[in-house]
Amino acid sequence: MAKPNSASKSVETLTKVEAAKELVWLSAEIARHDTSYFQNDAPEISDAEYDQLRRRNLELEECFPELIPLDSPSSRVGSAPAEAFGKVRHRVPMLSLGNAFNDEDVVDFEDRIRRFLKLSSDEPVVFTAEPKIDGLSISLRYENGAFVEAATRGDGAEGENVTNNVNTLQELPKTLRGDDVPASIDIRGEIYLSHEDFARLNADQEAAGNKVFANPRNAAAGSLRQLDTSITASRPLRFFAYAWGEASSLPADSQSGMITAFERWGLPVNPLTQTCKSAAELMSYYADLSEQRASLGYDIDGIVYKVDRLDWQERLGFVSRAPRWAIAHKFPAEQATTILRDIEIQVGRTGSLTPVAKLEPVTVGGVVVSNATLHNEDEIARKDVRIGDTVRVQRAGDVIPQILGAIEEKRPKDSKPFEFPTVCPACGSHAEREIDEKTGEVDVVRRCTGGLICPAQAKERLKHFVSRNAFDIEGLGEKQVELFFDEGRIMQPADIFTLEARNARSEKPLEKKKGFGKKSVDNLFAAISSRRAIGLDRLIYALGIRHIGETTGRDLARAFGSWENFRRTVEGALDGGRDSEAYQEINNIDGIGPSVADALVAFFGEEHNTRAVDALIAELDVQAIEAPSAVDSSIAGKTVVFTGTLEKLSRNEAKAQAERLGAKVSGSISKKTDYLIAGAQAGSKLTKAQSLGVTVLLEDDWIALIG
Ligand code: IVH
Repeated sequence: MAKPNSASKSVETLTKVEAAKELVWLSAEIARHDTSYFQNDAPEISDAEYDQLRRRNLELEECFPELIPLDSPSSRVGSAPAEAFGKVRHRVPMLSLGNAFNDEDVVDFEDRIRRFLKLSSDEPVVFTAEPKIDGLSISLRYENGAFVEAATRGDGAEGENVTNNVNTLQELPKTLRGDDVPASIDIRGEIYLSHEDFARLNADQEAAGNKVFANPRNAAAGSLRQLDTSITASRPLRFFAYAWGEASSLPADSQSGMITAFERWGLPVNPLTQTCKSAAELMSYYADLSEQRASLGYDIDGIVYKVDRLDWQERLGFVSRAPRWAIAHKFPAEQATTILRDIEIQVGRTGSLTPVAKLEPVTVGGVVVSNATLHNEDEIARKDVRIGDTVRVQRAGDVIPQILGAIEEKRPKDSKPFEFPTVCPACGSHAEREIDEKTGEVDVVRRCTGGLICPAQAKERLKHFVSRNAFDIEGLGEKQVELFFDEGRIMQPADIFTLEARNARSEKPLEKKKGFGKKSVDNLFAAISSRRAIGLDRLIYALGIRHIGETTGRDLARAFGSWENFRRTVEGALDGGRDSEAYQEINNIDGIGPSVADALVAFFGEEHNTRAVDALIAELDVQAIEAPSAVDSSIAGKTVVFTGTLEKLSRNEAKAQAERLGAKVSGSISKKTDYLIAGAQAGSKLTKAQSLGVTVLLEDDWIALIG
């Protein structure tokens, strides 16, 4: 809708009809900019221009109160289309894939699998190879053959309910045909747009004065997530099925057999899927597909290899968020050249100063890039990248674009090497590069020493706290954290949970703030409240302690079970030092070593941290994460240690299997160890176990025990 002429007239001179028309336009315009800002992180107008739109809307509403629509922009904040779709919890999580970037990675992939499964060198491993479709992944639930629900991937655990949208897809069978269709199955696959349909859609968009999409993937995502399903229906979205989640039974015992069954049932599957018998065959498939890529008619960004045997897939299992039995072999990254306009220094939550290249926007592989990472000070020096240089930019898949180097012939004559700041740009504190105690080497990262006084660090910590894999509070994203921090509403995590009570007493309550309506504020408080009950794993991760990422957070949560136990042990390690039992208890958790134990001790050794944590805990109801001991098995809840060489299983498989069955795998023997599983050539651990009276099992005893 074009801007109405009335927009340039003063409000008092408008007729009611003009005002009504302009209000409709303003409502749409404000909603559009909210989406660009909050949802797409790509504002199209300045803050001042945006404020001007909102002011005009308010003036009009004041003058013509009878024209205020129910969903007036003055009663909503941000853009929350995500809320409009219900949530769906995936019965089996939707995971991602590890990447291979070259032939060596593919050979390693096969070797890893062979080692894990302890296969002899003459045992063939069959893989399926199939294109990695560059679209958006979807999970489709079929019950008794009938399509009942569709969900986006979301964070892998929970996605958005897009059933009505997916229902409009021509290619999707509403019922599956065949006598081996399971009573229930989640079919997983990719929704995408063909090149031809993408070009047509963009031409139509342009002709209608609408936004054109950067690439087919964005267009597919934008088309699917439409509240008005008639829009989705008008877009020729396509689908390939390539995986499954929960299923009451399976029609085959191999990946390729499953795909054949999908096809029999009427689901579209990719015709290029093939089986290959070695890494060498995978690579020749890759070479073929690389050549065909441009003429396929749809975007692919690599090849996916999967172990064909499902019993092996099961044994291989998952590590973190990706299966051990599959990998994505990515096509080489796309490159372009552009001008480096500036180097901005960003301050991270641990005080790290990261240089970010501000670029003259350039399209790299269909996406406009205007920022790229320069990693760190040494990288800038090594590449001798200078402001004003023409630089080569690379973008691979979803990773942050990188600067490969400068084109020296194009360097301006007066350019100077970049001088990395030695003070923090946010708080002015000295920024230094630490020296590793053990190696004596200088850290590549320069860090602000401002700690608590540095506003940039505080904001980044809060952003981490509310991020997706931490507290994940709907309506409280990075933008709102910035805003609330700058206004002094939220300065530390506990403030999030006291916001509602303080707001009720505040002279400047949020709902009176421009851009915030009563409903959106209520929604925000409800979202915050719902997060008071939080898993211990998320909580530990959210604290943003150095070296503690998601996986380590989960390992700690599993090992300690409750917040009290975790806290008590860390305090014990703090008081007792490295030789204490408590320190060793942390150190002994499988996958955790001294750097994590030291980081925990350092964090809880700072009074300001414990104060902030105590204030936070007082607001929360911390929940033990689904303890692996909930698994019904003979070793659930037991602590086991492996030593020596096992015959039938690789050490990695034995560990993974023990964990699946609910045991804790530890790296060293203590009084708390329940079983030591001793393979051939067991050494000092066996002696120690015997002296402590720990039950020692031989490999066969162990296999008998776990069944
Ligand atoms: S298999 C447990 N196969 O790639 C593994 N994924 O980077 C399930 N994708 O989220 C994924 N084509 O959206 C698989 N042929 C294919 C794929 C494919 C595209 C996407 C999928 C996934 C992402 C992982």
